[in-house]
Amino acid sequence: MKGVVLAGGLGTRLYPLTKVTNKHLLPIYSKPMIYYPIQTLVDAGVKDILIVTGGNSAGDFLRLLGNGREFGLKHINYTYQEGEGGIADALSLAEHFVKGGKFVVILGDNIVEESIKGEVKIFSKQKEGARILLKEVEHPERFGVAEIKDDRIVKIIEKPKVPPSNFAVTGIYMYDSYAFDIIKTLKPSARGELEITDVNNRYIDNGTLTYGILKGWWTDAGTFESLIRANNLVYKKEAGK
Ligand code: DAU
Repeated sequence: MKGVVLAGGLGTRLYPLTKVTNKHLLPIYSKPMIYYPIQTLVDAGVKDILIVTGGNSAGDFLRLLGNGREFGLKHINYTYQEGEGGIADALSLAEHFVKGGKFVVILGDNIVEESIKGEVKIFSKQKEGARILLKEVEHPERFGVAEIKDDRIVKIIEKPKVPPSNFAVTGIYMYDSYAFDIIKTLKPSARGELEITDVNNRYIDNGTLTYGILKGWWTDAGTFESLIRANNLVYKKEAGK
């Protein structure tokens, strides 16, 4: 299965840290942020990877990662998202790379404690549709949140004021190529972005969205608070603290 790391966007919530560099190049303990999602894919056996970058420092990704030798890869694919049109807009740039197959997407600021190999294996056997990973969190209103009835997700609400559950939708998504047909029909949300939550809700309407619960801790790193949390979690894990 192929993999896509989304590292576009302008990282404005971390300004001025992101004034002269891309959010995904900021340090998380001993490595640049983007190393962690790439490693998550590689550990899951996903080795044909596309990185979607954006902003002013896109060239730095190439200098940093090259052909991915540090990850045991022979080659990495790159593409460039203009502006900050949203996660689904960034994903649309992967259509030519995916070429009709199934694929795994991970947001460039999502860091996990444990392997997602088992989940990728489950999805590789799923005939069609999508699979997302949920995680129970204390403050779901910061994320896409799943409304669950009889063990099925009936709806995902993006950053709800009153969350229907404590299950956040993590930034790890598995899709078939129908995702690109959905994206072509999307309209920008109130925040002016093509939302990945709209893609997932369409799969729910089609009855082809499954989900798993992520094991271990999970964090994003796109705000000052989550950035320091990510640093602390990775420090504890890697330094054995
Ligand atoms: O972290 C999980 C959450 O990520 C989900 O629960 C939400 O449903 C989902 O919408 C997203 O929420 P955020 O508002 O936190 O996403 P953010 O704008 O911070 O973007 C997350 C990553 O997506 C970012 O690190 C790079 C990529 N991205 C984002 C945008 C807006 C792009 O590649 N291009 C973009 O235009």
